[in-house]
Amino acid sequence: MTIKRILSGIRPTGDIHLGNYLGAIYNWVEMQHQSQQNLFCIVDLHALTTLQQTENLALNTRTVAAAYIAAGIDPKKSAIFAQSHVPNHSELGWILGCFTPLGWLNRMTQFKDKAGKHKELAHLGLYAYPVLMAADILLYKASHVPVGEDQKQHLELARDLAAAVNHRFNTDIFPMPEPIIQGAGMRVMSLRDGTSKMSKSDISDYSRINMMDTQDMIEQKIRKAKTDMEPIPETVAALAGRPEAQNLINIFAAMSKQNPQEICSVFAGNNFSEFKKKLTDCLINTIVPIGNNMRELMKEETELDKILSNGAIIANDLAEKHMYEIRSAIGLLKK
Ligand code: ADP
Ligand code: TRP
Repeated sequence: MTIKRILSGIRPTGDIHLGNYLGAIYNWVEMQHQSQQNLFCIVDLHALTTLQQTENLALNTRTVAAAYIAAGIDPKKSAIFAQSHVPNHSELGWILGCFTPLGWLNRMTQFKDKAGKHKELAHLGLYAYPVLMAADILLYKASHVPVGEDQKQHLELARDLAAAVNHRFNTDIFPMPEPIIQGAGMRVMSLRDGTSKMSKSDISDYSRINMMDTQDMIEQKIRKAKTDMEPIPETVAALAGRPEAQNLINIFAAMSKQNPQEICSVFAGNNFSEFKKKLTDCLINTIVPIGNNMRELMKEETELDKILSNGAIIANDLAEKHMYEIRSAIGLLKK
């Protein structure tokens, strides 16, 4: 498969975890070599939408950059940059907002989850989040957007907006971005509750494996991970109704590049203790070296900042070129 241009991003809102790795970064690493251009953004303006997570924004931005690189994103092949270093994201976000019916935003499940019960107290930024995300994608005319399954609805909104603006101005300025949602790791669930997704915002650190967790921490977290009393079944179908068991098997499958059925066949009839030992080894072998690599990269602040500013130069050039076309297409007076 030859891909024209990939764009994706992660919010710098705290510890980056196994869900971000398996749902996003892992696929980026594989895809970057099949694509003509890659843009991997650290979406710091999106982090502002959850105000409780804005502490250490600069540090967290560097941490996410370090995670990208440590996991295998090559800065020579892919532009790594901070969203706020390219002002056109905000400009296009405003323009797209003028073509977004409120009805579309009212359907967004992430807003409903994050705003909670008191919607009137939620901020405009949280509500407009999917519009800014559409701007991130459409600004670069990205052809492919690799994300976790939770972002599917936002991607659909970006496509709807592209079509709406194209239609309104009778142009084909925005190509349709294709979501890439793949792999067993596309939806990694909490280690404490197999029905909610693994997330940075979960108050319990035992709910997730962080990319900078030590060997000891990974051992403890997997030992304590919730399971049930039943043995591992022979078939994946028999995992239905056992979300915690299903989650651990999916994680193992993704980490060991097998499918969940192969894992069931190997461990069928066993209880979880032997399985957990193997899963722990597998996690330690992959995650601990990435975490160590991140710690090394974090020591070289100037180097990291240089990678980010090189990435921003590439992103700004492309963004400014496209923004010129977009302004013309919608009829704004030329500068
Ligand atoms: P979080 O939800 O932890 O705050 P982000 O919203 O910054 O993380 O997500 C960044 C990327 O990681 C997105 O592509 C998202 O789909 C993916 N992602 C986040 N959590 C998970 C998860 N539990 N399983 C799979 N992918 C995930
Ligand atoms: N909304 C995404 C998330 O919460 C992060 C994001 C922002 C993103 N802009 C993007 C992902 C553009 C892909 C493309 O995970």
